[in-house]
Amino acid sequence: MPVRSLGAAGSAGSAAAPYSKELRLLLHVLHRATAGSPKSVCENIEGFGSHSLGQSRSWLKLAGGNKAPVLTCASQAAPPQTSVLEIGTYCGYSSLRLALAVPGAKIATADVDPAHVLIARNVLAFAGLEPPRVTVWTGHSTDLLPRLSAHFRPGSFGFVFMDQRGSLYHEDLDALERAKLLHQGAVLLADNVLKPGSPLLLWRLSADPKYQALQLSMEEFAMPVEDWMALAVIKDMASSPPEVPAPRLLRDLHEFSDEIRARALIPGRGIDFQEWKDLADEMKRGLHSLGITALAVEPSS
Ligand SMILES: C[S@@+](CC[C@H](N)C(=O)[O-])C[C@H]1O[C@@H](n2cnc3c(N)ncnc32)[C@H](O)[C@@H]1O
Repeated sequence: MPVRSLGAAGSAGSAAAPYSKELRLLLHVLHRATAGSPKSVCENIEGFGSHSLGQSRSWLKLAGGNKAPVLTCASQAAPPQTSVLEIGTYCGYSSLRLALAVPGAKIATADVDPAHVLIARNVLAFAGLEPPRVTVWTGHSTDLLPRLSAHFRPGSFGFVFMDQRGSLYHEDLDALERAKLLHQGAVLLADNVLKPGSPLLLWRLSADPKYQALQLSMEEFAMPVEDWMALAVIKDMASSPPEVPAPRLLRDLHEFSDEIRARALIPGRGIDFQEWKDLADEMKRGLHSLGITALAVEPSS
């Protein structure tokens, strides 16, 4: 695809040329950022997301803005000498943030979309981050996670960032536990647990004595809408998940979150900022009625 002819908005889910937004981001990084500097590449991605796209109301779905300091602090709380696992690489922004936050750690990041993987590998290589420091895997989490134990020793991961499809978070956590890839004391951070939502993960984390968990509330990157991140620490690796089935309302909210995801991907349709706000408010009302709340994070300056 000729990069110069890329449409103004564009993403895998819009009516514009597929991946035009992500390719414009790559071009922006290659032209504007400093080669070999993860910090410069991060700043340029954030600038592209908040200035170039913010005005067109086309949203770059990354953990920037108020979410970035949470990602940094959470990853720095991981047990020492452990590796980082990220599920949902997209264009490599959060992998760069993680590399800056934990300079000694190896980072494995995975994405199901080969186009995203190619863009992320280019962004990361431009920033000077290549395997074995940062390795981008291609694959769907459901297929990939059970296979990781062939490449990583038990207890390898002290920090996991979940930023793939949120309705799979609880199943992916089960897969990581079954594969024994998590370290005692490992920290788990999951994005977008309000918008579009991951009710079954929140239920699992609150009900399972293995985890100590809370939700953090902040404004979404480049969008004036509230979102939550779930933060959890493995307190007792030996304890078992709860036998209690999730309440009916939680299952309904799970289906609601997947309907929102499906709507967001309809080419040429998408969801505007006001609709995102209304949907997030509806999800929040449902979660609150089940006693699931979030602590507000101070906005970053
Ligand atoms: C919200 S974006 C990730 C943003 C990125 N973490 C950041 O902050 O820069 C979600 C990504 O997850 C990928 N994805 C969705 N479902 C997945 C799955 N089940 N396994 C692996 N990747 C998945 C999508 O292709 C997309 O690139």
